[in-house]
Amino acid sequence: MKTLIAPSLLACDFSTLDRELARAEKAGADWHHVDVMDGHFVPNLTFGPPLVAAMKKRANIQLDVHLMIEEPEKWAQNYADAGANILTFHYEAAIEDFENTLSAFRATGKKIGVAVNPPCGVEPLKPHLDQIDMVLIMSVHAGFGGQSFIAESLDKVRTLRDWGWQGDIEIDGGINAETGTLCRESGANVLVAGSYLFGAKDMEQALAALRPGVSAN
Ligand code: DX5
Ligand code: ZN
Repeated sequence: MKTLIAPSLLACDFSTLDRELARAEKAGADWHHVDVMDGHFVPNLTFGPPLVAAMKKRANIQLDVHLMIEEPEKWAQNYADAGANILTFHYEAAIEDFENTLSAFRATGKKIGVAVNPPCGVEPLKPHLDQIDMVLIMSVHAGFGGQSFIAESLDKVRTLRDWGWQGDIEIDGGINAETGTLCRESGANVLVAGSYLFGAKDMEQALAALRPGVSAN
């Protein structure tokens, strides 16, 4: 599977958002990763649908929208209309009515991801994997950028591949050239990186180092 790199805009300079989108694309980004936080599911607050729609106007690659929000089914269509290409909601936010939440997301016609935080296994997703396009394994606790990679998260990536699942596996949090290699070796094919990429002196070089066969230097 081709490795896809999704820079997380959470770490960009919001005062020049259009230029940051262009910078990520020029550096070779495959998707823009957009972290939506509601101040309830996670103790941080970020982008509403109007801002995603504004990003959509300037973006030339897909918008990968990671919803860290409560009652995600209420917002699925809004973020789809705003221009999300991939919509991911958290299993933990939908635990009580997972099937209906998944149906609401599928009804948008977008590519659908389901995310799990570090304490949550992937076993609850197993019966639904044929309805899911992507599993997002959080390798930090959702809410903030700049945290350290939790290596145990890789077990979940391996478990999904051991089951023979061939959908996209995205991994998010604490990704850099070293941890990115571990993620790829475990079977993840979409790498999200925020502070590592936007904080790099040379974003293009840093991004290239996340791809297979390219050394960290
Ligand atoms: C955290 C977000 C991540 C975050 C990653 O809740 O989901 O996408 O931006 O940031 P880094 O790469 O700095 O860990
Ligand atoms: Zn994210």
